[in-house]
Amino acid sequence: MSPGAGGEPDGGRRAVLKLGIGALGLGLAAVPAAPAIGYLLFPSGSKGGEAAFLPAGKRSALAGATPVRVDLYADKVDAWNKTPDVKLGSCWVLERDGALHAFSTVCPHLGCAVDFDAEAQKFKCPCHRSAFGLDGSVEAGPSPRPLDSLEIKEQDGLVAIRLVRYRQGVADKEPV
Ligand code: FES
Repeated sequence: MSPGAGGEPDGGRRAVLKLGIGALGLGLAAVPAAPAIGYLLFPSGSKGGEAAFLPAGKRSALAGATPVRVDLYADKVDAWNKTPDVKLGSCWVLERDGALHAFSTVCPHLGCAVDFDAEAQKFKCPCHRSAFGLDGSVEAGPSPRPLDSLEIKEQDGLVAIRLVRYRQGVADKEPV
């Protein structure tokens, strides 16, 4: 007699199979649900085409009037692969009047990387010598607008920044 052909009721084996499949489903669901705590607080997925907030670190590490360069990472997911911790861009973060401010490191003129000159207390672009104040305002050079400020979110001592890229070479801050 073959198993399940009459002795043991098929319902018992079906129940075991269902349990196994359920457990497998739960296990698979748990894989994407186990990122670092920062990702739990600030999910990195885009919603409705809007740029996501990306974890930027502890507030205590970003506090202070001297700008800190922060690299922003997110998991890159496509139909076939998930690549963890892909660097998407960078920003400068500093504290002014008790609040954190973030500026894109991308120069609004033609997109070179903006550095911070600690001696001059200015952001400077090496390509065509645009210079920006600590508030992001243009102080010299051809940049058509101030440094692009980025939105910041704080929660439980952690900071997240919405990394948005803006059109270069134009006076208005237009997302691309
Ligand atoms: S790209 Fe920065 S000044 Fe031209």
